[in-house]
Amino acid sequence: MEPQKLDEYLKFRNPCPPFASAPDDGRRAQSLRAVCPSGREAPIRNPQSKIRNPKSEIRNRPKAVIPVHLFGQTADMDPIMEIAREHELFVIEDACQAHGAEYKGRPAGSIGGAGCFSFYPGKNLGAYGEAGAVVTNSPQLESKVRMLRDHGQSKRYCHKMIGWNGRMDGIQGAVLSVKLKHLSAWNEARRQNARIYDELLADLDGVIVPQKADHAKHVYHVYAIRVQKRDDLINTLAEKDIHCAIHFRLPVHLQDAYRHLGLGKGSFPVAEKCAEELVSLPMFAELTKEQIEHIASSVKDFYAKRCPESNDVQAAAS
Ligand SMILES: Cc1ncc(COP(=O)(O)O)c(C=O)c1O
Repeated sequence: MEPQKLDEYLKFRNPCPPFASAPDDGRRAQSLRAVCPSGREAPIRNPQSKIRNPKSEIRNRPKAVIPVHLFGQTADMDPIMEIAREHELFVIEDACQAHGAEYKGRPAGSIGGAGCFSFYPGKNLGAYGEAGAVVTNSPQLESKVRMLRDHGQSKRYCHKMIGWNGRMDGIQGAVLSVKLKHLSAWNEARRQNARIYDELLADLDGVIVPQKADHAKHVYHVYAIRVQKRDDLINTLAEKDIHCAIHFRLPVHLQDAYRHLGLGKGSFPVAEKCAEELVSLPMFAELTKEQIEHIASSVKDFYAKRCPESNDVQAAAS
């Protein structure tokens, strides 16, 4: 989401302080329903009435925003932080795909109130099983997260809160501490691979290469291009033993899990279009120049031979 859109959304979502009487035209009630995580009825029952229940109004106000540093490139954090300050929102950076990425020289995960990292095996820094971490400068948050991951224990057999078992296996810590030493070099190799892909694919009709923001040091967890005839392309490449992936075939708002929010098709047209067009080309540190050239020329062949009408799609896709 564009930072300005977030600001507009929050102003619409929460146009007056929670204790004030709020004129309402029904749209507001709709928006409250949309963001209520439990899917329970929105607190404003009569659109013409004043706020009936200030407590539930407070409970349903947004408390945090989670910018996602998608595919290895950081979100534009300055405007997000400014909007968050204005609306008193806590900022949680989802840096699960952005180990070692930077925003204006600052490491991903170090800008908001907390940063979250996944060490799933396929990540730029991956364990040999499930693992993850939360980073924060707040001692209170640190101690709370430490408790939450350990069934809410502050010390043995003393449960301050209800938590869960999120303890990372020692073996994963050992693997990660060895691999961490190589992260910068691996990220640099990914960046170099992306440069080669960019050069080879940039001028190809029907293909849009990933955009690089001036503010970001991209670490290319994923190298996703936007194309037309995606499934045909994927099948053709697979015949040549080039295996691609689709990251996020169905946007979050169209997943069954979020159906109760009532955000149907058309609610987020950009996300929906991207979900139809994105394809992730092979990307890892050890890819060779020759392999990238082979992949890029196979993509070119596909659009030249099998899909000549793709010359029109650049305009359609942008
Ligand atoms: C952007 C993003 N956020 C969150 C997650 C969840 O990470 P985990 O599965 O380790 O909890 C992932 C993992 O794929 C991710 O890519």
